[in-house]
Amino acid sequence: MMLIGITVPLLLLLLALARWGWGAQGAQTQEALPPGPTALPLLGNLLQLESGRLDRALMELSGRWGPVFTVRLGPRPAVVLCGYSALRDALVLQADAFSGRGTMAVIERFTRGNGIAFSNGRRWRTLRNFALRALKEFGMGTRTIEERILEEAACLLGEFQATIGTPFDPRRLLDNAVSNVICSVAFGNRYDYEDPEFLRLLDLFHDNCRIMSSRWSEMYNIFPSLLDWLPGPHHRMFQNFAELRVFISGQIQRHQQMRQPGEPRDFIDCFLDQMDKEQEDPESHFQEETLVMTTHNLFFGGTETTSTTLRYGLLILLKYPEVAAKVQAELDAVVGRMHTPRLEDRERLPYTNAVLHEIQRFISVLPLGLPRALTRDTHLRGYFLPKGTFVIPLLVSSHRDPIQFKDPDCFNPTNFLDDKGNFQSNDAFMPFAPGKRMCLGASLALSEIFLFFTAILQRFCLLPVESPTNIDLTPQYTGLGNIPPAFQLHLVAR
Ligand code: HEM
Repeated sequence: MMLIGITVPLLLLLLALARWGWGAQGAQTQEALPPGPTALPLLGNLLQLESGRLDRALMELSGRWGPVFTVRLGPRPAVVLCGYSALRDALVLQADAFSGRGTMAVIERFTRGNGIAFSNGRRWRTLRNFALRALKEFGMGTRTIEERILEEAACLLGEFQATIGTPFDPRRLLDNAVSNVICSVAFGNRYDYEDPEFLRLLDLFHDNCRIMSSRWSEMYNIFPSLLDWLPGPHHRMFQNFAELRVFISGQIQRHQQMRQPGEPRDFIDCFLDQMDKEQEDPESHFQEETLVMTTHNLFFGGTETTSTTLRYGLLILLKYPEVAAKVQAELDAVVGRMHTPRLEDRERLPYTNAVLHEIQRFISVLPLGLPRALTRDTHLRGYFLPKGTFVIPLLVSSHRDPIQFKDPDCFNPTNFLDDKGNFQSNDAFMPFAPGKRMCLGASLALSEIFLFFTAILQRFCLLPVESPTNIDLTPQYTGLGNIPPAFQLHLVAR
């Protein structure tokens, strides 16, 4: 009752301000930033942005306001970069200026600007370089990581084999397999697929991913103080984060007890060694809290995006069985059925490679990327953008750019093939975002996507449970991430 007593007047106040400001002139709130749609006080452009389809709404606005425009998400202005060439001009050609991270209240409350993904300045540079070096040492970009992924793929195939004849939802098994790869790099061990602790952890990730792709999280980012008072699933997200923190802290404690200093077995050991080295330095970025957040970044970043890509990809192949059959024919011809495909085979599998790129383009798993912030005053396309400007790099708009891709709204692997059937890359392909803040795990993710997909397709035929024409590829949730609808996979051995 008391809550209603507080929120109703607040909402009335918001609406009154909205009505009052409706006739206000568009330019008045935009100051020197690029022009954009008329904004209301407090609500900004919220009423013009269809919640849950922010990516599409922003692309539509770009049709009216051009490739660089300003929207207000509540009171905060955000400069939107839409289409390949605007994204390139900013993130690639002015990489330094656009290398800051924009804050999101949802994340800020958990990370407090710590870790890699949501820090800035010297802390970000130090941690990012350290993590890149450490991940290389523990396998990324070397043969070792390939072995780890192949071992995990073998476990996944074993689980898939046990389902033969019975349709099942592949989400959980794919989550298990993908997460185990990053677990082995970060913690030095993998988990059994039935392990209750592991399953709980993955449920927390999945739940948070869904809430973060819902209007609750959108609203929290805009009106955090108000949402703190309102009931809703966003509170569960913070509980989930807290539980994840307890899990990671437990792992760190275990490592502290078991490790041999100077002989790191995994990412956490590596970080603890660096903490030892810098313990006298009061300015050091290597603190326990930073280790918790950095490990969380790798764990969360390394699980949901890759697993969602695999799941969405399987759904697409169910809709286009002729594409799956062509990939299988290429695998048979180039690799055969006796050996598991390896990364070195990728170049000799142009059609397969093109299909995997087209899956990533078509689904745009992080449609809005992660927000950037300007590290200094700069100019873009004739507009002055002051230091600190919040920037939305609309990655999906590059993938749907009709100048760069044929029929961009359709799934078409020839987008990545030349006339002779050779693989053809395209700079407008940017699921990992370009520039200095590019995804830290891009090469790991690409290796996983290739090795898991080819292992599955080499071994199994994917039978649709319903007619392919009835399969709807529209995301079930969209926001931070594009999440496919749940579906059943029916496998038969080839
Ligand atoms: C298909 C899989 C993946 C996709 C599509 C993806 C996409 C992205 C995108 C769009 C960003 C934001 C870049 C920017 O600031 O503009 C990002 C950042 C990041 N990703 Fe990924 N990612 C994937 C897999 C991974 C994996 C496997 C890891 C773990 C090793 C990872 C770790 C990170 C981290 C730590 C950042 C923050 C980088 C920074 O702020 O400097 N990601 N990712």
